[in-house]
Amino acid sequence: VIWASVAPSDRKIEFEIEMKWRGLSPIEKFGDIYLFSGEFQPLAWAKVNWKQVERVNFSSISEAAKKLKIAGKHWMFYSNGFHRRGSLIEEKFRIRKKELSFPLDKNPFQETGSFSLISESEMIFAKERDRVHPLGELEYTENKEAPSRAYLKLWEALTEFGAYPKSGDRCLELGASPGGWTWVLRNLGAMVESYDRSPLDPRFDSDPLIKFHAKDAFQALPDRVGHVDWLFSDLICYPEKLADFLKAWQQKNAPKMICTLKFQGEFQPKVLEPFLKTGRVLHLNYNKHELTWLSF
Ligand SMILES: C[S@@+](CC[C@H](N)C(=O)[O-])C[C@H]1O[C@@H](n2cnc3c(N)ncnc32)[C@H](O)[C@@H]1O
Repeated sequence: VIWASVAPSDRKIEFEIEMKWRGLSPIEKFGDIYLFSGEFQPLAWAKVNWKQVERVNFSSISEAAKKLKIAGKHWMFYSNGFHRRGSLIEEKFRIRKKELSFPLDKNPFQETGSFSLISESEMIFAKERDRVHPLGELEYTENKEAPSRAYLKLWEALTEFGAYPKSGDRCLELGASPGGWTWVLRNLGAMVESYDRSPLDPRFDSDPLIKFHAKDAFQALPDRVGHVDWLFSDLICYPEKLADFLKAWQQKNAPKMICTLKFQGEFQPKVLEPFLKTGRVLHLNYNKHELTWLSF
């Protein structure tokens, strides 16, 4: 089986460090696209990982489109060279860029696969992948009301998680200031226990759904906080420290968890070990020099 990873052009160093650490070496490489053979092992730093990649020749735009049509309904082009030719093939599928709002009621990309040209007359395509968006480029219409832009990252993380906190769920949130994530959670109707040393946006002061704790977040242990349905962390801290802290929650209450993993200096892939054992690690479209861990 052939599968592929698309390396983000601005995170290639981290991507390649992770690839070597996993003992993977590509059978071929076309620009940002790395082809592998064997068991599917999605790379965390990839924009997207494509499963079961097919490779076909074509002699015209219409022949390429015909071959894609046989394999699936809609196709989105990842431009990695041969931009004009690929765009002309994509036009045959009339893919319109959709404005997405959170939460999505259903996955709008369910029936859309991904393709890319590797020469004038050869393409690769995949119907399935590890991410919601065919190219790993999920983008939402922004909302100016949020107290910080971090809400976009949580919207994307929850979309990838495939579940949302619902009205009445109890959420623990670590590293909450100024409150972008808090805003997302309370808008879903969840109750939020927010920890940060810095304050939340004052608009939340009298919000009945939010309880703010001006404390060190590492004090928020299960015995003190009680049962929670979800745990979120956007703390700036060493991933090793976060992994240690989370053990208490994994052993006691095991809520669903979404945490940002932040890196200082050169990326050390070994820090991912405890997170990969217990969930998925992704580089979201809205992540910068950080990854997002979603518990299983
Ligand atoms: C990236 S910001 C969080 C942004 C927030 N998620 C939002 O949506 O607006 C990280 C926060 O972690 C907090 N922080 C870092 N270490 C902490 C600790 N040990 N205890 C409490 N807060 C901490 C910082 O004060 C900072 O506000």
